[in-house]
Amino acid sequence: MISQKSVQEILDTAKVEEVIEDFVSLKRRGANLIGLCPFHHEKTPSFTVSPSKNLYKCFGCGKAGNAVRFIMDHESMSFPEALRYLAKRYNIEIEETQTSKEHQEERRYLDSLFIVNDYAKAYYQKQLFETDTGKSVGLHYFKERGFREETIQSFGLGYAPAKKDAFTLQATQDGHSLELLKKLGLTSKYGRDFFRGRVMFTLFNLSGKVVGFAGRIMQKDVKAPKYINSPETEVYLKSKFLYGAYQARKSIRRLDECILVEGYTDVISLHQAGIENVVASSGTSLTVDQIGLIKRYTPNVKILYDGDAAGVKAALRGLDLVLEQDLNVRVVLLPQGEDPDSYLQQVGTEAFQEYIEAQARDFIFFKTDLLMEEAAGDPIKKTKLIKDIVSSIARIPDPIKRSLYVKECSVVMKVEESILVDETNRTVTELLRRRHKRRQRGEARNVDQREPALKAVAPEPAEGQGEDDAAPRPSSPAKGLELQEREIVRVLISHAGKMFDAEEGLTVEAYVLSNIEEVIDEFHHEHYRQLVRYCLERTLAQEPLSTQYFVNHRDPNISRLAIDLLQSPYEYSPNWIGLHNLPLQNQLDPEQNFKKDSINVVFMYKIKKADQMMLHNQAEIRQAQDAGDHEQIMRLLRVQQKLSQLRNELAAKFKAVVLK
Ligand code: CTP
Ligand code: MN
Repeated sequence: MISQKSVQEILDTAKVEEVIEDFVSLKRRGANLIGLCPFHHEKTPSFTVSPSKNLYKCFGCGKAGNAVRFIMDHESMSFPEALRYLAKRYNIEIEETQTSKEHQEERRYLDSLFIVNDYAKAYYQKQLFETDTGKSVGLHYFKERGFREETIQSFGLGYAPAKKDAFTLQATQDGHSLELLKKLGLTSKYGRDFFRGRVMFTLFNLSGKVVGFAGRIMQKDVKAPKYINSPETEVYLKSKFLYGAYQARKSIRRLDECILVEGYTDVISLHQAGIENVVASSGTSLTVDQIGLIKRYTPNVKILYDGDAAGVKAALRGLDLVLEQDLNVRVVLLPQGEDPDSYLQQVGTEAFQEYIEAQARDFIFFKTDLLMEEAAGDPIKKTKLIKDIVSSIARIPDPIKRSLYVKECSVVMKVEESILVDETNRTVTELLRRRHKRRQRGEARNVDQREPALKAVAPEPAEGQGEDDAAPRPSSPAKGLELQEREIVRVLISHAGKMFDAEEGLTVEAYVLSNIEEVIDEFHHEHYRQLVRYCLERTLAQEPLSTQYFVNHRDPNISRLAIDLLQSPYEYSPNWIGLHNLPLQNQLDPEQNFKKDSINVVFMYKIKKADQMMLHNQAEIRQAQDAGDHEQIMRLLRVQQKLSQLRNELAAKFKAVVLK
């Protein structure tokens, strides 16, 4: 591993403008440099590099980051790979931690696995292109399937001869150990070749290194399995592998979409036709790790299913996992009996593209339709179906998206929306409860620096009213809090780790978080909510936070948000003074006065939130008045009174503390 010291040295040394200029030509404009964005197509430059902040940002597509992020994104490298690249460029000697003997041995061992695999790949390729049987059997097979020579080359396709130990003999003769050959599954434990008389598919990892192989039998109607695959090794973990990812990654990023198919040949065929953003799950259902891999490149996934209904239904089960990860999933069902490869060959690229665009359906609606067809006229099946769909919907982290689906699905399923709302809420609550339990295992620090709490006065539904959710509700109180939520996040990022109260050992984040802890789940904006949640989790686990920690974070969403917030000019909403009747005489310089800044955003958030709750409550009062529900009116008036009391308390304290 690269030592923290070296990481810091690289971050300190690498000049973002120099690093970027190796790839993009930049022109000076004022304090900044600008150029054409390498991450999206544009004619007028909106890609801006700030040498003083050592950051870049594209105002067209939003990509932003530091030198490391640029290399990771532009060169599709992992974090350590990018660091090594930069170290090389700046002649920085990398200090490795854990340079223990075992660690070095482990490295050497992994390297040797790659070396042997590389050798095997070259061997199978040579067999394919340079031997008579290879050419007449293997190459002929690929050409019959319509693969062009450059495709065959770039996917590392090959041919394994039928003789029982041709490869093993050659490999050992060339100095490779039998032990490693067996370890990699290239040679069986009896010393025979594992892949015999098959055409070979090379499996590359994301950096283009060979991790394994798949061999396809060429004859039809034989008992042997169509494909055999290398066994799992330290370099080939099937649950973390996506076939074609190495060849597809740039295109996925550029098009901001990943097409997912089932088979190796589907990937190759589509790629050859110019549809390059394709990967295959290799016939199994998706794993969380594979989703994570896709998410590094794009949140948009289009899944192409072979046209047989049974297979599709099985595949749908696994997909709730994808929803939980907040990917946008669309599904395309190919015509009966076709897979992507065969259908493409049949209709041609253009018609294929048109088809998948036209047929792509949102996953949940797709699932709903499919199950509806099945449940037609069977009330028991339909009840099960509702539960099934609801459990899918409940997994979507974004509440707005969720309610949209509820609406649409209630129409499709001809079920009253309120029933779906109830079901969904129940499931969401259950999921939340489980998550909360997990969180609670880290005991919260008891901080006594809290401003008056908000949750205590939040209007609760009157008895007997909960079921009646179908009535239109006034707009959610969370709307309009974006600025305040953003400010909370800004403070967390820009002052993280600083001491709010040194005597109490209270950090800024502990102060801010303890004040808003109970309403974090109500944060309207998902990114802010996630980040605040994340800060809370780290703080509870007593792990330190710092500004650099966010800026250099591996999760691009977090580092992007951090950079955005640090970059944006510091300002309070100009409306604040008038709207809230709170004279804001002096603009605080957040860097100089982080303590006041922190107190300030907590107050602003709470006051604004109280205002919103009051508005919301007023709307409910009007509704209750229209309905002539006196009991309800009285209850809501009491809430209103409490809210306004709280708001005044907050405002008074705000004046006393912040404006003094
Ligand atoms: N698969 C496998 N082992 C098998 C069968 C299938 O690993 N015995 C995996 C392979 O990754 C294969 C995918 O499942 O690519 C899909 O299987 P299938 O549709 O049968 O194969 P295709 O890729 O379509 O291959 P072909 O077009 O050559 O029939
Ligand atoms: Mn096929």
